[in-house]
Amino acid sequence: MFSKLLIFFIGFIVLTIEVNSAESWKPVYIQPEQLHISLGEQPTEIVATWTTMEKTSDSICHYGEESKQSFDYSSRGYQQKFIDGGPKKRHMYIHRVYMKNLQPDTRYIYHCGSENGWSELFFFKTFPKGNEWQPRFVIYGDLGNDNAQTMSMLQEEIQLGHHDLVTHVGDFAYDMHTDNALVGDEFMRQIQPIAAYVPYQVMAGNHERDYNYSNYNHRFTMHSQGEKEINNHFWSYNIGPVHLIAINTDFWEHIQYGTHMIENQFKWLEQDLKRANEPENRKKQPWIITMGHHPLYYQATRPDNKIRIGNEQLPGLEPLLYKYGVDLSFWAHDHIYTRFLPVYNEKIFNGTRQDPYFNPKSPVHIITGSAGCREFVTPVHSNPNPYTAYVSNDYGYTYMTVLNETHIQLRQISRNQMGKIIDEFMLVKEKHGPEAWLY
Ligand SMILES: [Fe+2]
Ligand SMILES: [Fe+2]
Repeated sequence: MFSKLLIFFIGFIVLTIEVNSAESWKPVYIQPEQLHISLGEQPTEIVATWTTMEKTSDSICHYGEESKQSFDYSSRGYQQKFIDGGPKKRHMYIHRVYMKNLQPDTRYIYHCGSENGWSELFFFKTFPKGNEWQPRFVIYGDLGNDNAQTMSMLQEEIQLGHHDLVTHVGDFAYDMHTDNALVGDEFMRQIQPIAAYVPYQVMAGNHERDYNYSNYNHRFTMHSQGEKEINNHFWSYNIGPVHLIAINTDFWEHIQYGTHMIENQFKWLEQDLKRANEPENRKKQPWIITMGHHPLYYQATRPDNKIRIGNEQLPGLEPLLYKYGVDLSFWAHDHIYTRFLPVYNEKIFNGTRQDPYFNPKSPVHIITGSAGCREFVTPVHSNPNPYTAYVSNDYGYTYMTVLNETHIQLRQISRNQMGKIIDEFMLVKEKHGPEAWLY
């Protein structure tokens, strides 16, 4: 009897411990996720940014040349706690590590994390040295978590090495802060199969604005070339023969918070354009290309577009782009692809009668905002303005291959038509800079 009681009693205790500990066991979230890379302070650097839901012992990347199949280098960075602005105040840790002293034109293997756990093994290829190579860009805006129509095509093309970098021209995830930033987490997981392999270069759109751009600010790492400070809102970088400039056009859309961001950015932009136009710089990077979220031109005329022309208090962008001889400008926000004839101040400035893009007399504008999101696409206008040359609201993205100092090839890829090129043109400039407008 006593032994039966004892067995029962021991059994009860074991059961109780099991129930109690099963209730108190929770997973720990220390595995790196949402890993992506971007251009560092110097062309010899690549920054890795990733997330863990809990604090880890360290933030490290191991990397080495792929041909040697070993991690010959190790870099240590830092982690920052990020608290989302939503009602649950979810937190996570964002890690940043700069992989330094990279050789040009070399494939590296890498993984990131800490002794608590490493990411999958990824690879990237550094850009060739100097300006005499042909950068292959993929450019798009308005890519969301849901209805991300082009995501799988992009993931595969990038992994096969078809492109050198991606530029995402604003509007991410829809939105990164939605559902206490769970949408942001899942979007960043979705782009990892793209962004862990090539620099994923970004600029903000209106969907990044909430809580003062905090998800956007924390989750990405943008540098201007030679600048130590991270600035995800405006930055510039030399990529082969291109001087690429990214800006935040959304500053014009919420001036109730003040106009100082527009003024600071505008000052920086003018300085940057001035420097890019110094003869020795423009000789090395003849192409000046800008990217920003809100377009200066749409299919239907918006004569009062304040980002383009400014107003009593604020400067507009178009005069500045014209003054400093910007060759090409990419926009998004309108969920559509639109190629414009060369246009300035709402007037057409075609290069020649046969070919508008042969030595055009003004900047050329393209909208590429159809990568896919839960807000679907914009209808094609039945009566577009005269400078709208081609429109498609197929889901898709843009390839830009910079062939040399005179030729850029542009192609629009359609998701609806399984990767078909639906628009293609060559921008030819025998002269760059403001003098090109008179050439
Ligand atoms: Fe959008
Ligand atoms: Fe937008």
